[in-house]
Amino acid sequence: MIKNRFNKLISVLDAKDFINDIFKIADEIKNGKKYSIDGKIIGLIFERPSTRTRISFEAAIYKLNAHPLFIDTKLTQLSRGEPIKDFARVLKYYLDALIYRGSHNVLVEIDKYFGKPIINALSEMEHPCQAITDIYTIREYVDDFNKAKLAYVGDGNNVCNSLILAATIVGLNISIATPKGYEPNERIIEIARKLSEKSGSRILITNDVIEAVKDADFVYTDTWVSMHQEHEKEKRLKDFKGYQINREILKYTNDAKVMHCLPAYRGYEITEDVLESENSIVFKQVENRLYIEEAILYLMLK
Ligand code: CP
Ligand code: NVA
Repeated sequence: MIKNRFNKLISVLDAKDFINDIFKIADEIKNGKKYSIDGKIIGLIFERPSTRTRISFEAAIYKLNAHPLFIDTKLTQLSRGEPIKDFARVLKYYLDALIYRGSHNVLVEIDKYFGKPIINALSEMEHPCQAITDIYTIREYVDDFNKAKLAYVGDGNNVCNSLILAATIVGLNISIATPKGYEPNERIIEIARKLSEKSGSRILITNDVIEAVKDADFVYTDTWVSMHQEHEKEKRLKDFKGYQINREILKYTNDAKVMHCLPAYRGYEITEDVLESENSIVFKQVENRLYIEEAILYLMLK
């Protein structure tokens, strides 16, 4: 019987002791088992666009016999200056849990005053639901994480930060290649190094794409311009030249499976032919988001 329960998922670290439980429940859900958190009311706030995260969470909530409540903050008193701490203390009385996409500082402040289960649906710091799903997806192809290698090429961003943590929790070897100045968060690398001492992951952070992808079993990339970085677009498109996943780069890998959190910008961080190739498992990642999120909600709210 699964006894554990966790109350927040702001960072992958919050799920550190629950990853195996999440995977176990997700396996069962994928095989058709029904779980219920009957009648729970779950708020969703998305301050940035979303296709996968919002829709998969809403679907997961319906599948769990619970109620999604989408909150457009432009139509709340937040838009007229109501303090976040008041807003969060109001939500506490009406909701059982909250899913939030937006600025990391706001997320942390809401968590402080909301005091109930809260899930990070992507901030500039992390994307935990994505990374946990990605490791779950990789698990479908490998028997031993310690013997497999994931290479991430591109921006050391939210997705990359969460992937480093998730990989080093389970013992997957991970190499990251970014341009200079776009490395992943230093504090996260430090934590990941400590985690890897226990799990046996090898970590490489480099600016050299070939060094990173050499013999990789999985190659992962994400957009060069995240949603909060549109104003840096011109500079980023120049700085990231050479950090594209394409056929040439794949030659250095162990016939790697290709991963992307989506949305993908073809011709920039990845080529059309590679994204659409047989090596691409991006829609397996998409599918698994649903099972993982259902499992996370169940473990938090059962
Ligand atoms: N991968 C992901 O989170 O996609 P959305 O922005 O569409 O939610
Ligand atoms: N790094 C991207 C991920 C989108 C799912 C962003 O933050 O926009």
